Amino acid sequence: MKHLLTIEQLSEAEINEVLALSRQVKARRGQPLPHPPLAGQTWGLIFTKASTRTRVSFEVGIRELGGSSLYLSSKDIQLGRGETVADTARVLSRYLYGVIIRTFAQSDVEEFAQAGTIPVINALTDDEHPCQILADLFTIQEKLGDLKGKRITFAGDGACNVARSWIFAAAKTGMELTIAAPPGYQPRPALLARAGGNIRVTEDLATAARNADVLYTDVWVSMGKEDEAVDRLRVLAPYQLHSGLVRPETLVMHCLPAYRGKEISAELLDARQHDIFDQAENRLHVQKAILTLLAA
Ligand code: CP
Ligand code: NVA
Repeated sequence: MKHLLTIEQLSEAEINEVLALSRQVKARRGQPLPHPPLAGQTWGLIFTKASTRTRVSFEVGIRELGGSSLYLSSKDIQLGRGETVADTARVLSRYLYGVIIRTFAQSDVEEFAQAGTIPVINALTDDEHPCQILADLFTIQEKLGDLKGKRITFAGDGACNVARSWIFAAAKTGMELTIAAPPGYQPRPALLARAGGNIRVTEDLATAARNADVLYTDVWVSMGKEDEAVDRLRVLAPYQLHSGLVRPETLVMHCLPAYRGKEISAELLDARQHDIFDQAENRLHVQKAILTLLAA
């Protein structure tokens, strides 16, 4: 693996390699590393969108692997004043050992990887959120065992970045994914055809939830979609996850941040917070595995 730009570009073997190493990394946290994989390296985080989990877990992970991190808000570097992505990549490749980018256009992340000479990690774009979904797969494996044949229902904005990454992840790992979303918020048929696998789209959340091993949701107003907030909150309202939809054995997941009373009821989030915050913790372990593989 040279970069982590999308789940779509990963093979099943690469996904399994990340998951297997994540298990070791998690089990060994806190023990001294005889050969810290990022020793002497500085990695940059270029973020044009807000972040709590991704930023902090990457910065902590880099430090725990023996490296240093530099947080570069796009407002503070010349990129924000019109310097091209390609020139930024060429310059930063002379200083840094790798970059982690959160931004709007997927093409910016791809262009950075093309023009630069260092590993690039997609920390969320409008198209994909691969680090989140790898941590989610790891969490499901930890809690439910083998991924193959597990049934996951994603409720809400089925066209958002997290849902898109899930479509590719489910197809590659042999999970059965149902997207429960209203018209206008469903993934495009061309995307589903590209992904292959066992993916269904429905407007009927109640039925999709009843059959699920995992019930997953994400915010209704993704970063960059704030202008559409009024419409989104109205149209997506029937897709809230609440305790009436889940069986005791259903694993409830949320990538966070959560808006209680919107995509998930406060009651359900609080009842299942142990699993949901395990999911958030796993971002750290899985990203340390990703960094280790890319630095090798
Ligand atoms: N889930 C996630 O990526 O959270 P942040 O936006 O806080 O990084
Ligand atoms: N779909 C959300 C994910 C946040 C982690 C967004 O893009 O804002």
